[in-house]
Amino acid sequence: MKKILVTGGLGFIGSHTVVELQNAGFDVVIIDDLSNSSIEVLDNIVEITGKKPDFHQLDLRIKSDVKEFFNTTKIDGIIHFAAFKAVGESVQKPLEYYENNIGSLVYLLQEMRDRNFDNFIFSSSCTVYGQADELPITENAPVKTAESPYGNTKQVGEEIIKEACNAHNFNAIALRYFNPVGAHDSIKIGELPLGVPQNLIPFVTQTAAGIREELSIFGDDYPTEDGTAVRDYIHVVDLAKAHIAALQRLLDKKNKANFEFFNVGTGKGSSVLEVVKSFEKVADKKLNYKIVGRREGDITAAYADTTLASKELNWKTEKTLDEALESAWKWQQSQS
Ligand code: UD1
Repeated sequence: MKKILVTGGLGFIGSHTVVELQNAGFDVVIIDDLSNSSIEVLDNIVEITGKKPDFHQLDLRIKSDVKEFFNTTKIDGIIHFAAFKAVGESVQKPLEYYENNIGSLVYLLQEMRDRNFDNFIFSSSCTVYGQADELPITENAPVKTAESPYGNTKQVGEEIIKEACNAHNFNAIALRYFNPVGAHDSIKIGELPLGVPQNLIPFVTQTAAGIREELSIFGDDYPTEDGTAVRDYIHVVDLAKAHIAALQRLLDKKNKANFEFFNVGTGKGSSVLEVVKSFEKVADKKLNYKIVGRREGDITAAYADTTLASKELNWKTEKTLDEALESAWKWQQSQS
């Protein structure tokens, strides 16, 4: 059985990916420092899969701890989620973002080099494209100057991996996620935002649950059909499955270059107002909202061209936006 290290494996996307890995028969080892996750997630993973992943509470910024981990555990591949991810905070604390997101990436790659193993999947973001000139966004769209230190850690992270692949003969895949939303069908795992949510869906569900008074929709003067910004919301379970497909591609040595990157979205754009309408339908509830000014740094529209990912990874999304929102709402209700 192949043993896969999942860093950040108790986080939102990480935990869903651990479940899919276990369901697919992989042996999973999780490293998580619990800085933005909770240890209960581990029990919930066990409840869903019936299997307990090996768990190490470890800070990947501490090089000696990383080394010690690999001294005692033999790994066949890494899915690297562990990173800070708040765009606004990254502007206030750029050095912490570089230390954590870049430092730990480099340490993991050094261990791979020193111990002669590879198969590395990197958690990247469509944020690398900024506002693309053409929609849907293909992998040929140019990478734009990052709007934030967070965005830059994804761009630089990809560059570092690519250079390490060339120098050390590694094989790696970066998955550029669009907007992950929703929760596992079991409603035992989901998104656990710390404090006031910055992302749309948790803010919507918390508003519906009465935790927030009303949703502010950031701008209705974008050049889109209804004036609100358009994004590609992908169900987190579909996204998790893309990781298994990417990992399998590397394990089967089917990759066409030693560093590859794929867009992982649904291919469908939805406006903020469409999301609100869809949520109101599935939750059978009116949502309090008001239109306010645009949020700084936001782009007009982003949605994926999924042609390459579906062909090369032999993967496609299975769930709709309604299903994603319904699961997000059930998850929210299970939290109170
Ligand atoms: C954001 C990050 C992106 C990151 C992604 C992870 C920014 C600028 N970008 O993407 O780098 O990879 O999260 O999921 O933060 N909206 C509202 N009201 C709200 C919250 C959001 O109207 O209270 C709107 C936003 O203006 C946007 C859409 O909803 O049009 C989606 O927002 P969000 O969930 O924050 O995702 P992104 O901004 O696309």
